[in-house]
Amino acid sequence: MAQDRSHWDSVYRRKTPESVSWFQDDPRPSLDALSACGPGHRALIDVGGGASGLVDALLARGWQDLSVLDISQPALAHVQARLGHQARKVHWIVADLTDWRPDRSYDIWHDRAVFHFLTAPEQRSAYIAALRQALRPGGLAILATFAPDGPDKCSGLPVRKYGAPDLWAELGDEFHLRHAFREVHHTPSDVPQPFTWAVFQRDDRRAPHQAPPVHPVRG
Ligand SMILES: C[S@@+](CC[C@H](N)C(=O)[O-])C[C@H]1O[C@@H](n2cnc3c(N)ncnc32)[C@H](O)[C@@H]1O
Repeated sequence: MAQDRSHWDSVYRRKTPESVSWFQDDPRPSLDALSACGPGHRALIDVGGGASGLVDALLARGWQDLSVLDISQPALAHVQARLGHQARKVHWIVADLTDWRPDRSYDIWHDRAVFHFLTAPEQRSAYIAALRQALRPGGLAILATFAPDGPDKCSGLPVRKYGAPDLWAELGDEFHLRHAFREVHHTPSDVPQPFTWAVFQRDDRRAPHQAPPVHPVRG
């Protein structure tokens, strides 16, 4: 939505990545959630990645198929400047998740602190439609939102708060909960913010095998 884009553009133009309340100098919770995904995943998309250092950490660990999507181009410009020539190794996507149509599939969907901004049911269904289109069968979705005892607002915007079962209810029974944990993030001004982290795996339901057509035997 246009007002969301102008809100986020203004935040990332006014503030440094290190001064926003969601800044973390070590994306440890994301790396812990990724360890719960197991081996064999190559393609990861960080949705609403903002100016996060996750992509830096993953490049340093040898990931080669990384995409970062955000509604705000100025957010991505911070990371591109920080990465320098390494920025060419990443696919950058400026898009609103609630009307984005992915044109390829990913093994892992990572979202730290984006889904919780979607307070309207139609925004959440649009997000989940994009997730289902982007994530391959058997792929994993990592979602981190404010926990039920977390703050009511983030960046001045209202949020919805979730425990892992609430997130599972939003995603539906095509997903199963593989791992969940609680993290207390500390903002740069040292305000504690409890987060719920959950790792979901999408069912690996392939299209049912189609029996060959039966042709009448001509005699
Ligand atoms: C609280 S910040 C979290 C940023 C990053 N995930 C991190 O952990 O540092 C939320 C991010 O979501 C982005 N965002 C908000 N609404 C979005 C939407 N509808 N589509 C895509 N990105 C969105 C914002 O621009 C912002 O970068």
